[in-house]
Amino acid sequence: MSTPDGIFISFEGGEGSGKSTQIRLLEQWFRHRGHDVIVTREPGGSPGAEEIRALLLTGDPGRWDAVTEALLMFASRRDHVERTIRPALARGQVVLCDRFADSSVAYQGYGHGLGADFIRQLWKLAIGDFKPDLTLMMDLPIETGLERAGARFANVSAAEDRFEKMALDFHRRLQQGFHEITVAEPQRCRVIDADGDVDTVTKRVATVVENFLKNRRAGQPA
Ligand code: TYD
Repeated sequence: MSTPDGIFISFEGGEGSGKSTQIRLLEQWFRHRGHDVIVTREPGGSPGAEEIRALLLTGDPGRWDAVTEALLMFASRRDHVERTIRPALARGQVVLCDRFADSSVAYQGYGHGLGADFIRQLWKLAIGDFKPDLTLMMDLPIETGLERAGARFANVSAAEDRFEKMALDFHRRLQQGFHEITVAEPQRCRVIDADGDVDTVTKRVATVVENFLKNRRAGQPA
């Protein structure tokens, strides 16, 4: 548990999984029930971490090697945790976060091949045992997600389409990463079937969160 006071919920998933929409809807859901909520994101979420985000997401794609990128992710994450998340939890707020350290395990660990163990060591060094109370894994077939995200993938079966195939392979590794994270921590990580219209997915999210809150009130694991 991150803290006995507030509640820390992260959203994870690949491209086009609808995270941002569902986070905003869950924010309203909590507000209607009288909770004080903040929405934040990674990389970013504090002034310093947003500066690091700009370093990470702008410029030449090959600007950082994989290890440097992972270190920057964790530098930004530590600042975010210390300056934004922990203080909010100490005030008793609900913190909804668009991506957290599981994204580093999936993207840098599995996607970019650094390995989950290496990322978990960085996790421990940067923020110790701190982690979300609940992580919603937005699960969607890769092709649907890429279509939603507007990416081109129509000719992936054509052998010559190397870049699209590379993109698909990368997304398959991500999906595998998120799956293995969920299997390793089934109590914290809940899979949400993100294939459906917004209302349907919102109901699925609400069911999982309601269960989590009920179990939390009863002092049981989610
Ligand atoms: P963003 O524009 O916020 O994308 P998304 O809507 O997919 O969350 O950009 C964040 C990008 O950074 C996204 O491609 C995932 C990646 N990322 C990592 O590679 N490692 C991390 O630890 C985090 C938090 C994000």
